[in-house]
Amino acid sequence: MNILADKTILLGVTGGIAAYKAVDLCSKLVQAGAHVQVLMTYTAQKFVAPLTFGAISGRQPITDLWQLYEGGRIGHVALAQEADLFIIAPLSAHTMAGLAHGAADGPLTATALSTRAPLLLAPAMESHMWEHPATQANLQALIQRGAHLVGPEVGRLASGGIGIGRMAEPEVIVEHARIVLSRKGPLAGLRVTITAGGTREWMDPVRFMGNRSSGKMGVALARVARDLGAHVNLIYGAMTVDPPIGVHRVPAMRAEDMLRATLALLPETDVLISAAAIADFRPVVTYETKLKKETDQEIRLERTPDVLKAVAERRAEIGMPRLVVGFAAETSDLVANARSKMERKNLEMIVLNDVTAADAGFEVDTNRVTILTRDGGIESLPLMDKEAVAYHILQRVRGLLGAVGIGWSPGAGSLLP
Ligand code: CTP
Repeated sequence: MNILADKTILLGVTGGIAAYKAVDLCSKLVQAGAHVQVLMTYTAQKFVAPLTFGAISGRQPITDLWQLYEGGRIGHVALAQEADLFIIAPLSAHTMAGLAHGAADGPLTATALSTRAPLLLAPAMESHMWEHPATQANLQALIQRGAHLVGPEVGRLASGGIGIGRMAEPEVIVEHARIVLSRKGPLAGLRVTITAGGTREWMDPVRFMGNRSSGKMGVALARVARDLGAHVNLIYGAMTVDPPIGVHRVPAMRAEDMLRATLALLPETDVLISAAAIADFRPVVTYETKLKKETDQEIRLERTPDVLKAVAERRAEIGMPRLVVGFAAETSDLVANARSKMERKNLEMIVLNDVTAADAGFEVDTNRVTILTRDGGIESLPLMDKEAVAYHILQRVRGLLGAVGIGWSPGAGSLLP
């Protein structure tokens, strides 16, 4: 269910104060279900004891090249072959130089030289070391050979100064690991546009009509579609969560903005998933100055555009998107209402939310949905976290694309008719 599950990840740790953050990184990878083997340089062990990583990863860290030869296997070669990804965090200037020049003077560099797994580098060093032409030349050499870079960030450094050189935060490194692993995913080449969050319809510069949507379901869909290899556009309104990295972000606050952004992306959208809670009404007048309480105001409302209806009309003309998925937030006659919505809006699939349930729907991390398809299919899923729901929805999307004979060539960036 999660791209990190059962992946073999090598985590190289070099000497730097940020080594303590690598402990958290290791923990996050293990919690996501990855098998993590830590490799530490001599200097890294001055900052964090190997025991700490051993306890978290359940495997003894490799600290010595000769340790790898135990058991009759050529250790670093075997390790290198098993790896799906090699993360080096923190990466010191010294080890970066070694990697750039093909050094094999320790377990970390020897394994890096032997592996064909993608390399994800999270450098951490003082600003002057980072900015030095030697470091920059080494970095360029590694990037040209296909290494992926995360950070460094600007912030407080070990010296006490402020500057560039802080290691990226562990959760950001995990996101980058997911993106690197997604490259050859089952949806590679598919272009997916997702709308998320709630819209805001302004009454005056400080007041709006909004709704309870947190954007969590749409963001989960965007993240999982990205992890499965799709190219993702995320059109989003008000959300309590950040849009994920590695997706094309398109902010759109009002229903009108959602309509414009969605229609603009249609020609390059294979699959549209409309998870946004788009307002159905807006104030007829938006005042340019703040309304005073003394003025006895009556707010008159008018209908907003129905985005999916407009999509259905445009789709009839241009033949894109190939597949449209809607959401239905219902409080009564759930299945009947969702079915008629699916037909009215010409959708291939609709995801039904019972928004009266306390543990599912708005604001929470879990959801309990029923997936209805145009061919009469109905599947009720148990309560699960929103990423797991997203995974199910995308699996169904994949199945539907296959059922109607639409294939796409991985990496080609577009569906083949
Ligand atoms: N939707 C849309 N444009 C709107 C309102 C909703 O495209 N102005 C989309 C939503 O993103 C969702 C689907 O339509 O995918 C259903 O949304 P929902 O609020 O459940 O339905 P409504 O069309 O608003 O119908 P009703 O208010 O009658 O339930």
